Amino acid sequence: MSAPDLKRAAALAALDLVEPGMRLGIGTGSTAAAFIEVLGERVREGLDIVGVPTSEATYTAATRAGIRMATLEELPELDLTIDGTDEVDGRLRLIKGGGAALLREKIVACASRRMVVIADASKRVDTLGAFPLPIEVNAFGLAATRRGVERAIARSGCAGALSLRLGADGAPLTTDGGHRILDARLGAIPDPEALSGLLWSVPGVVEHGLFLGICDAAILAEARDGRAEIVTLGTPRAA
Ligand code: 5RP
Repeated sequence: MSAPDLKRAAALAALDLVEPGMRLGIGTGSTAAAFIEVLGERVREGLDIVGVPTSEATYTAATRAGIRMATLEELPELDLTIDGTDEVDGRLRLIKGGGAALLREKIVACASRRMVVIADASKRVDTLGAFPLPIEVNAFGLAATRRGVERAIARSGCAGALSLRLGADGAPLTTDGGHRILDARLGAIPDPEALSGLLWSVPGVVEHGLFLGICDAAILAEARDGRAEIVTLGTPRAA
């Protein structure tokens, strides 16, 4: 069972949550791309939904798949967002932003009545932080913001190095919002809420990749006996 097979299995399980007429936030990354693929197939069979993208890349992929898209300006309240994740812990706290889309992802998720993440089961962790925490910062005053972020991390009790994310061309990566990303290699984040608050206090920090109290459920696909088994954390459907 390959990683793409597991992503598709999680995406197919998430498709069960999609109902006709829904306003749907659509995430970014390779697992979200698998979801766009299966959602596009269903739309071409007649399912009527409208999507709101979390990135320019998602807008392009979803439009190509035949999914009707709108902006968050046009649809500021969404029914459900389906997105990928870099890590999820047992309390449905996430690290996101490996694909540099964390700002739009968080805005779209928070505009949704429910957020469900899909992933292969390797993304399930006991403690967040093995995946480098993306921190989106304003390009202006980057060196000063970086020092502020370093101090905030030290005050939170974490330790680790920051690196400026580069694009494929070797130049500093620019996000869809025109910002930079600092990746914090922390190893473990024992108190994500404390770190989140401290990062918020640094001028120049636009957003960080800790999604706390936002995600309602995680649909995880695990390889077992040559098949994909779905494990669900939380409650994917509204009660
Ligand atoms: C993009 C994200 C992605 O959802 C996250 O990086 C997971 O990506 P993938 O499904 O490719 O592993 O947060 O900003």
